[in-house]
Amino acid sequence: MLTNRLNLVVLSSLTTHVLSLAVKRAEPDRSNVVEFAKITDPTQECAPYWYPPSDNYPQFPTTWGVANIVAGDTAAQNKWNEIKGKIPNTPPKGVNGDFSNVQYDNSKDPDCWWTATGCVTPKLAGIAPDVARIPEPLSVGYGFDDGPNCSHNAFYDYMVQKNQKATMFFIGSNVINWPLQAQRALYDGHEICAHSWSHSSMTSLSSEQAFAEIYYTVQAIKSVAGVTVTCWRPPYGDTDDRIRAIVNALGLSTVLWQYDSDDWKGGAQVDTNYKTFIGQAKGGEFSKQGTIYLQHEIDEFTMGKAMEYYPSMKDAFKYMVPVAVALNKTHPYAEAEVEFPTFDEYISGTVRKPLPDSALSYLGLTATPPSSASSSPSNSATGASTSTSTTASSGASPSSPPSSSPVSTPTAPATPTSTRAATNTVPPSTPTQPSKPKPGKTMQSFINWLIGGLKRWGF
Ligand SMILES: *[C@@H]1O[C@H](CO)[C@@H](O)[C@H](O)[C@H]1NC(C)=O
Ligand SMILES: *[C@@H]1O[C@H](CO)[C@@H](O)[C@H](O)[C@H]1NC(C)=O
Ligand SMILES: [Zn+2]
Repeated sequence: MLTNRLNLVVLSSLTTHVLSLAVKRAEPDRSNVVEFAKITDPTQECAPYWYPPSDNYPQFPTTWGVANIVAGDTAAQNKWNEIKGKIPNTPPKGVNGDFSNVQYDNSKDPDCWWTATGCVTPKLAGIAPDVARIPEPLSVGYGFDDGPNCSHNAFYDYMVQKNQKATMFFIGSNVINWPLQAQRALYDGHEICAHSWSHSSMTSLSSEQAFAEIYYTVQAIKSVAGVTVTCWRPPYGDTDDRIRAIVNALGLSTVLWQYDSDDWKGGAQVDTNYKTFIGQAKGGEFSKQGTIYLQHEIDEFTMGKAMEYYPSMKDAFKYMVPVAVALNKTHPYAEAEVEFPTFDEYISGTVRKPLPDSALSYLGLTATPPSSASSSPSNSATGASTSTSTTASSGASPSSPPSSSPVSTPTAPATPTSTRAATNTVPPSTPTQPSKPKPGKTMQSFINWLIGGLKRWGF
């Protein structure tokens, strides 16, 4: 009797042990981008994980809240103090993207306000025009807004398979929440540009807030992927000379678009938009100069449409290239060792340059020694145990979220209305949709979540 019981206890504890081992084995490897990219189950891709490098930078604003300079962040404060004298004193426009009560003279367009007039040539001296099209004929600047989305592996795999590179306009809050997904863009050879911290209408913000939105997005990408971006796209295209001056002072260029898939809206209209655009390309619309098309990495639907129409876009255009490639911008990041191909190199088959060892080691990867490298233009790299060294300070395993991991979703920022300034001319396209906030996934967003909760509970 007693032995039976003992047996039972031993048996059940053994079963538990074996089960927990099985569960451990089923847990995907999220120690670096190469391992992460192998995950194919969207639920696993979007599961919380613990990835510390975003803690390298002291502090970020709360994800999905309008960014302000973080208290005590002297580097950000000093940068703002250094540039604020160069920013025009134009007051912010409207309230949170609602421009219905804004008095603005569209015919004079003193601020070159894109949302009102589609203006892309600044009136303010010393600032380059926005890039809304590309000069190369029969070509399209191929790019995606609002990423990284957590479950983008199938879409990024598709682009690997097609040997296709694109420009990714990343939202800072998504980069912080999904660092390995953000790294994948760099690792795969796409171009990364910033797309603000909280996807707010920039012209409605104070200059200091607009600065923080862009500054912290650049810092987030730098902290997570190790590169300093030099381009950005304003959410909804909403920019004017005040915002351009801030962006320019931060060393970024503005990339807009001419044609819009409006894929975020969903429905049959999206197919019509794709087909119309492709029809225009086939009809010779871009035979003298190329264009830029707006698509989104928001979710399964938008990425699905991108893949669905990829073959016919490829058929309609002679060349589909990232914006940097179209402009022969061979050093799209401040880190000069990261190189991009020229347009000519790209179209002759060199769609990317190998990442330098410094970039690979930042991602926790080690380059394969040159002697064993294949002739393939893509990077060959292997996961290295060095990635775990960065976890030392937190003591947490990179693949195990804390038991107190946040489960509540932060409140979504209000979606700005599409209302435009009074007596507007029709702008070239309607605003793009911000992607929905996700629960925090890193130490920083966990702390932000905790602080937010304490505040909500009245502490
Ligand atoms: C990412 O895509 C998945 C799949 O469509 C979706 O469920 C999720 O909400 C998306 N994430 C964001 C932040 O929109
Ligand atoms: C890119 O370089 C090619 C080859 O030198 C040249 O023909 C083309 O005009 C350049 N494009 C731009 C935008 O500078
Ligand atoms: Zn957007």
